[in-house]
Amino acid sequence: MALYNGPLVTIERFILEQERQFPDATGELSNLLYDFALGAKIVAAAIRRAGLVDILGSAGATNVQGEDQKKLDVLANETLKNVMGHTGRVCVMASEEDEELIPVPPGWPQGKYAVLFDPLDGSSNIDVNAAVGTIFSIYRRNSMEGQGTLADVLQAGARQVAAGYVMYGSSVMLVYTAGQGVHGFTLDPTVGEFLLSHENLRIPEVGMYYSVNESNFARWNRGTQKAVRGFHGDLPERIEGKNSRYIGSLVADFHRNLIAGGIFMYPADTKNVNGKLRLTYEANPMAFIVEHAGGAATDGRRRILDIQPEALHQRTALVIGSIRDVEFVAQIMAETEAEG
Ligand code: AHG
Ligand code: MN
Ligand code: MN
Repeated sequence: MALYNGPLVTIERFILEQERQFPDATGELSNLLYDFALGAKIVAAAIRRAGLVDILGSAGATNVQGEDQKKLDVLANETLKNVMGHTGRVCVMASEEDEELIPVPPGWPQGKYAVLFDPLDGSSNIDVNAAVGTIFSIYRRNSMEGQGTLADVLQAGARQVAAGYVMYGSSVMLVYTAGQGVHGFTLDPTVGEFLLSHENLRIPEVGMYYSVNESNFARWNRGTQKAVRGFHGDLPERIEGKNSRYIGSLVADFHRNLIAGGIFMYPADTKNVNGKLRLTYEANPMAFIVEHAGGAATDGRRRILDIQPEALHQRTALVIGSIRDVEFVAQIMAETEAEG
């Protein structure tokens, strides 16, 4: 009798098998993905014990966005910088928690990849033991040699070579794509390995859930309000009503919708005029993943992956998930705008 459902495929074996389809691959990207998996295991171990050791609560500082930094934000950020920086595979890093670019530590070779991450997503959920995540994004460097530059990390999302997230939920899962399907791995904590559990994830064309922070309703434009009324079931001739689910961790809200079908929105509002989420650390990697799973991501109008980032911490509105639901929002937005 087998211990696991299905064949036993570690994340390392899976990545290596995928890479074998490309005869000229050097293995560096595979190793980089594996490095992220290691970082995730270290962060997961800390989160597991969060209530027992002194890592809950505020670190007493604010990050570049003026947001309160939690101790776990800092711990996750330091862990990822440490793991990713000492590999020889990256030339530069950027993190939601650091104002400036993060160079490779002195003495380490400059690799050919630029990596960006949101070390801990959904930090407001940490202290109440709800799901949080890590998001990462990988580009091939633009610059030819030496230290990586801003241009290496400010590439349009369509140029990502891989992206993924880790969800620290009732189990720990790593989901990634390197352009050949979206694959999910579940951490078996007893052996400390990520094992393949969700091969080739596809998001349903129409979802059953919508996820949005409706406390912002009065601050949205009319198009956004109308689209959400559609999700309530108020436009039955245009769209069937949906069920509402919102945790407040992009990773967890996105993951549910990826598996069950649904749409997540963080629209612009009068307080967050450019939206709240960050293009480089949050929207782009999730957009890359959702498109490779058959879904879509826009800022309400434009495809996220086509936006040329201009600043490291640039924000964007985000509408992401099942393709027909994302199209519905874009149509309503365009119609409402045309009405003036
Ligand atoms: P982070 O913890 O990395 O700052 O991200 C929080 C983000 C995102 O995960 C979530 O979707 C959104 O903020 C929730 O915002 P509201 O509390 O305004 O709904
Ligand atoms: Mn985040
Ligand atoms: Mn964060």
